[in-house]
Amino acid sequence: MNMDGKTVLVTGSTDGVGRYVAAKLASAGAKVLIHGRDETRGRALLDEINAEGGEAVFYQADLSSLSEVRRLANAVLADHKRLDLFISNAGIGSQNQGPQRQTSADGYELRFAVNYLSGFLLAYLLLPRLKAGAPSRIVNVASLGQHPIDFDDVMITKGYSGSRAYAQSKLSQIMFTIDLAEELKGSGVTVNSLHPATYMNTTMVRAGGITPISTVEQGGEAILHLAEGDDVAGKSGLFFNGMNQAQVNPQAHDEAARKRLRKLSLELTGLA
Ligand SMILES: NC(=O)c1ccc[n+]([C@@H]2O[C@H](COP(=O)([O-])OP(=O)(O)OC[C@H]3O[C@@H](n4cnc5c(N)ncnc54)[C@H](OP(=O)(O)O)[C@@H]3O)[C@@H](O)[C@H]2O)c1
Repeated sequence: MNMDGKTVLVTGSTDGVGRYVAAKLASAGAKVLIHGRDETRGRALLDEINAEGGEAVFYQADLSSLSEVRRLANAVLADHKRLDLFISNAGIGSQNQGPQRQTSADGYELRFAVNYLSGFLLAYLLLPRLKAGAPSRIVNVASLGQHPIDFDDVMITKGYSGSRAYAQSKLSQIMFTIDLAEELKGSGVTVNSLHPATYMNTTMVRAGGITPISTVEQGGEAILHLAEGDDVAGKSGLFFNGMNQAQVNPQAHDEAARKRLRKLSLELTGLA
């Protein structure tokens, strides 16, 4: 995909791999919609992109609140006539913001809400604009860390651990990717998910006390591959580990489980 004149939204682009991807897309000629919670970090990236002659806009929204997600989508739709690429990247790791179970503004388990539900809702709210300008793409930044959903306790009220919550939210993104790809067949909008790289040197990895083993550049290039690579044009519903297509947790292939997750997500986000 030639990025010149394209409009792209990268959630969680005030830090980590999202920041790298946003800056790269801006230097490739795209108008980049930067997103995050932290205004200072957002403005710093904006200034950096502008100083290099690129075009960017910053949107501040806390994705742990579904009303904030809707506000973000409405602002993007009001401000931009086109949207060619949506990279759902914002997320919290297994440990940052504390090891204990936490809930979102809407009372949902926090990692499920921020890492999965917000991207689910954003994708549906932005879909009319993505469809109107097709061919267009959605990239869901997931992970190799995947834990099956226990449908009797999706909000993990029992046996909570940050890594289980994180991995459940990441498998949810992958299951959503498969379903959405099916739904979007023939629309010109493709959707794929990926594990960018293992333990990149980012805030969430450092917060988990983990020694980074890969760089933001490695993971960033894998995201950019799905976002703009010609070899993946028209491909949809796939999961990549870095640059290569990869297998996912078996629950993602269980149609009944995906249907259950979809029904629940539509209810929880108020889209039902
Ligand atoms: N790091 C890895 O090794 C690794 C491996 C596999 C997958 N991933 C995935 O890659 C993506 C990016 O991770 P990263 O390592 O780059 O993390 P990071 O450096 O911690 O950056 C996370 C980004 O998400 C934003 N964010 C977090 N909580 C938010 C909230 N409630 N509302 C809005 N924005 C929020 C942050 O914005 P502010 O803090 O500025 O608000 C920041 O821009 C995540 O989806 C992660 O699961 C990472």
